[in-house]
Amino acid sequence: MGRLEGKVALVTGAARGTGAEIASLFVQEGARVCVSDVIDDRGEAHAATLGDSAFYQPLDVRSEGAWSQAVDAVHERFGPIDLLVNNAAILDVRPIPELEVARIRDLLDVNLVGPMLGVRAVQPDMEALGRGSIVNMGSIDAMEGMGWVAPYVASKWGLRGFTKAAALELGQKGIRINLVCPAGGNRELTEGFRDNLQRRVEAGEKLSVKGLDHAVMGGRHASARDIANVVLFLASDEAAFCHGAEYLVDGGHTAGHIWFATG
Ligand SMILES: NC(=O)c1ccc[n+]([C@@H]2O[C@H](COP(=O)([O-])OP(=O)(O)OC[C@H]3O[C@@H](n4cnc5c(N)ncnc54)[C@H](O)[C@@H]3O)[C@@H](O)[C@H]2O)c1
Repeated sequence: MGRLEGKVALVTGAARGTGAEIASLFVQEGARVCVSDVIDDRGEAHAATLGDSAFYQPLDVRSEGAWSQAVDAVHERFGPIDLLVNNAAILDVRPIPELEVARIRDLLDVNLVGPMLGVRAVQPDMEALGRGSIVNMGSIDAMEGMGWVAPYVASKWGLRGFTKAAALELGQKGIRINLVCPAGGNRELTEGFRDNLQRRVEAGEKLSVKGLDHAVMGGRHASARDIANVVLFLASDEAAFCHGAEYLVDGGHTAGHIWFATG
């Protein structure tokens, strides 16, 4: 018997990367899953690989209307929602003076307002059930800073704060909420990385990345499954007393600094 047998889940940003892996693992563990995203072709294709236990629903997390349509669609297909994974996020890599106001607002809208709307959208179901688990996707950037991604860092620290505040309201209703903080996950070069950095390199700028070589686990990078396993645990009843906390999945990245090394 799977660890999510009988549970109904909604995963945002699940067309690819970490979200897609979470949806797959949830189905494997017995859940019925709404795969949602804004890239419909990849979302449809991923849901199709999961059979009758999954369907794709377009859901731009910035839109209240899209959230209520998604909740209606899940009700029609599977029933009330037990599990929400607020995984969708965007990233933009550029120094502060180059940040446009519209882009800053967009990053905060997707990464911070989106999950808040998600909690609001599923709370009535979870209250009626008297149970539920919500997992918000943070980052090591919810625990420390990182240059060139300031609004992303601010959005993830904000999401960490929201998770704590929401825990105080939701816990009394039997609903758990937690934050997973990965370093890595999807290894695909996504838009926010590729477009800006590629343009800079093509324009002749010499770029080097420092800090990512701080690999405590011998250079191994996180796989999407490494992250999904922790999300699965927090979604499951095994995590019955885990609430309002952050769970690092960073291979020791934030454990500290190494000053001396051999080899
Ligand atoms: N990959 C990493 O190194 C890493 C590290 C730390 C944290 N994270 C976090 O893990 C989560 C998943 O990241 P990933 O690496 O799989 O990235 P990804 O870009 O592959 O996945 C994010 C998904 O969100 C979707 N999305 C974007 N805007 C949306 C919107 N407005 N509404 C709904 N969906 C939208 C994208 O289409 C995409 O499918 C994110 O919250 C990210 O911040 C990733």
